[in-house]
Amino acid sequence: MEERKKLIEEQEKKIRERMGRVKHKIAVISGKGGVGKSTVTVNLAMAFALKGYSVGILDADIHGPTIPKMLGLKGRKLQVSESNDIIPVSGPMNIKVISMDFLLQNDEDPVVWRGPLKMAALRQLLAEVEWGELDYLLIDLPPGTGDEPLSIAQLLPEMDGVVVVTIPSEVSESVVKKSVKFAELLRMRVLGIIENMSYLLCPKCGERIEVFNSGAGRKIAESFGIPLLGQIPLDPKVSREADSGVPFIIDFNSAASKAFGEIVSKIEKALN
Ligand SMILES: Nc1ncnc2c1ncn2[C@@H]1O[C@H](COP(=O)(O)OP(=O)(O)OP(=O)(O)O)[C@@H](O)[C@H]1O
Ligand SMILES: [Mg+2]
Repeated sequence: MEERKKLIEEQEKKIRERMGRVKHKIAVISGKGGVGKSTVTVNLAMAFALKGYSVGILDADIHGPTIPKMLGLKGRKLQVSESNDIIPVSGPMNIKVISMDFLLQNDEDPVVWRGPLKMAALRQLLAEVEWGELDYLLIDLPPGTGDEPLSIAQLLPEMDGVVVVTIPSEVSESVVKKSVKFAELLRMRVLGIIENMSYLLCPKCGERIEVFNSGAGRKIAESFGIPLLGQIPLDPKVSREADSGVPFIIDFNSAASKAFGEIVSKIEKALN
């Protein structure tokens, strides 16, 4: 028992040292699955990298890691340096990525870990990964208020905060409230809300079509007194490109790409 306690203390010390070289740490959360957290994470990462920042992504979705696929990094493996540090996989724009996916032998292998084991795995990973100097570390989390967000909040005490991703519908509204409250409970600052799949732009005439009950993001933001960071349109290109490993932000003229540029500017301002 003593030994285990010592190991944990050592790992936590290492984490503090390593994280001391990461300027900003932001987690991307949502109450519900499938609202676009991972899509938002990779595109935010790209938007920061395009501004010249050094960026890392921690894919903390242990059961359903999707970041490697979205960045065209499927099948890559983590390397270990001579000094026994774990080296992140380097993606587009030099974005450094750590994901459970790089450790799995087989795509179909389910990860059957319980809470304490997940915490231990994340702790060890964070203790051993050599990110180097980073301006921004983005953390993609699984949906809801489970073990991973809790672990991350405990392991990275100096987080800048979370961004909450939502889609504009009533059900989504109540789950977003839950995740905002969850963040507050963990004493994490909510940097703002991103409303994804906010509207559809008609590809023929450019008209803005509100597919869902729009404005939910704004309503929640107002009721909690937190900023609405941006509204990202539903764009078929987004999912097509995510599937092929090219973040859509690369298409500079798209409304989605512009929305991400604005979100990043707002985050920069909030943190400086
Ligand atoms: N703005 C958008 N326009 C079109 N498709 C989108 C948009 N945002 C996300 N998608 C698509 O919706 C699906 C779900 O997105 P994503 O995987 O990012 O969600 P998630 O919240 O990370 O899901 P999970 O909860 O499973 O981790 C993906 O196929 C993605 O390509
Ligand atoms: Mg995801």
